[in-house]
Amino acid sequence: VRDPLNALQWEGDRLFILDQRKLPKSIVWIEARTAENVARAIETLAVRGAPAIGVAAAYGVALASLQQNATIPRIQKAIDRLRSTRPTAFNLFDALDKMEAVLELSHDDLSKRLIQAAIQYHQADREACMKMARAGLKLFGKDERILTYCHTGALATGGIGTALGVVKFAFAKSRVCEVYACETRPLGQGARLTVWECAQAGIPVTLICDNMIGALMSTRKIDRVLVGADRIARNGDTSNKIGTYTLAVLAARHKIPFHIVAPMTTIDYSLRSGKAIPIEERNADEITRITPGLREQKKIKIWNPAFDVTPAKLITSFVTETGIHTPPFAKLPVNPT
Ligand code: MRU
Repeated sequence: VRDPLNALQWEGDRLFILDQRKLPKSIVWIEARTAENVARAIETLAVRGAPAIGVAAAYGVALASLQQNATIPRIQKAIDRLRSTRPTAFNLFDALDKMEAVLELSHDDLSKRLIQAAIQYHQADREACMKMARAGLKLFGKDERILTYCHTGALATGGIGTALGVVKFAFAKSRVCEVYACETRPLGQGARLTVWECAQAGIPVTLICDNMIGALMSTRKIDRVLVGADRIARNGDTSNKIGTYTLAVLAARHKIPFHIVAPMTTIDYSLRSGKAIPIEERNADEITRITPGLREQKKIKIWNPAFDVTPAKLITSFVTETGIHTPPFAKLPVNPT
């Protein structure tokens, strides 16, 4: 029996991916034997969350090298295919750059080296999660009430999670007593995954619709907001799930500290500000299918950006595996790997 909280499992020559689309209703595993299988899983959000996408892609390259007809150009083609799956999460490109570097340096035992590199990448993410959880503990007083967005737990990473990993660790040390999770429309990562993962950890969790955040902040005590990130620019501007910016504005209005928890693999040092972060736009169907009858109304235009950018000035601090960082974010330490 596989542990669903370990959502990416490498088994020698194949990758088992927990199908996040099926949760919380059922636990279904996808058996990926090719890079294309992994690319499809990323595109269709069977695997999602920036660090998890990176880890899955690294294994995708390893799978490409295991094919009977594997050659360096074919593996390179698989890397390009994986690169084209989703544009925003920087971890995907970080992982593929690292795998490409291994490909360029290795002459013999190519598949062995690529498998080893993917396992190492996974392990590094697992360790980064644990370090973030430890570093993040310093944020909390006692029995805090936390608001979070989207899903940033174990399923979204190679380890215990980013923002939700910090929260789970802090809960175990009695520094957090309750979590409020936003539904996160249109795809409901909060409703489907955060609530499930909190319940698994025994954390009291209250689900709200995204349009209840203002009311929640003005009528109940929220001590802190913790969210993850998909890509962080050098100046600290941060892209995360659509709606995060709205949440940050409301947190500032209510003077509630707003923290980003992300590994260094999410930081894109090539970007001076968030303006240059590529924002994925997804299919209109993800919105129209929510409301019965909407699909048939042809004259309606739909805009479905998957991410927004929160300006650095709305962010109280960043938690990474190197500790807690406060502005100016231009001084964030350079990725050690
Ligand atoms: O479209 P998704 O579900 O992949 O978006 C995920 C997020 O926005 C998460 O907050 C982010 O990747 C951090 S996950 C640890």
